[in-house]
Amino acid sequence: MQPAGPLMIEHRLIEKMVSLISKGINKIKLEKKIDILFIDKTVDFMRVYADRCHHGKEENILFRCLSKKDISEDHKRIMDELVQEHIVGRETVKILVQARNNYGNGKEGALNEIINCFEKLVNFYPWHIAKEDKHFFLEVMEYFSDKEKEAILNEYWEFDRKLIHEKYQGLIENIQKEYFSDLDSCQSTVTAEQDRIGNKDEPCDAGIK
Ligand SMILES: [Fe+2]
Ligand SMILES: [Fe+2]
Repeated sequence: MQPAGPLMIEHRLIEKMVSLISKGINKIKLEKKIDILFIDKTVDFMRVYADRCHHGKEENILFRCLSKKDISEDHKRIMDELVQEHIVGRETVKILVQARNNYGNGKEGALNEIINCFEKLVNFYPWHIAKEDKHFFLEVMEYFSDKEKEAILNEYWEFDRKLIHEKYQGLIENIQKEYFSDLDSCQSTVTAEQDRIGNKDEPCDAGIK
């Protein structure tokens, strides 16, 4: 498989999400309301799958390897544009989260803010994906030897393997911060449990009822 392959496969799933967001927009316009969980699920997909997992492999592996090659001015320009476009995607999701919170707090106009963000994502992603699929990924494969391609693929697998741990490590830290920050004097549950096993300490559960 070429290193373009897994990225193009991931594009197909992102397109499915985009299609669901598009259906969501019609539903919101019709019903004049939205299920906040729908927003949360799209944000999770956009942040973890589209950005961290997919853009992460593009930027941290493929583009990094390409930047070490003597690529054409045209390819360099497209690569820079793609990185900038990822930033736009990230910013749009950030604004979507603010709009989601505004909606939850009953702020007037929040539903339109949500629709605007969704429309931006629906317009942005197919165009960005087409640019990569049709004008970049396959062309830049030429810069790599078979051995280099294999190394890139291996790096992808390792990146993906670590991702699930990163996601849930982040979730634990988030829960800790959001709900139990008043227990700062305690060690984290995980660390305390590790210490207990090592007979160094008892788990600190003070305050947890
Ligand atoms: Fe991209
Ligand atoms: Fe992509």
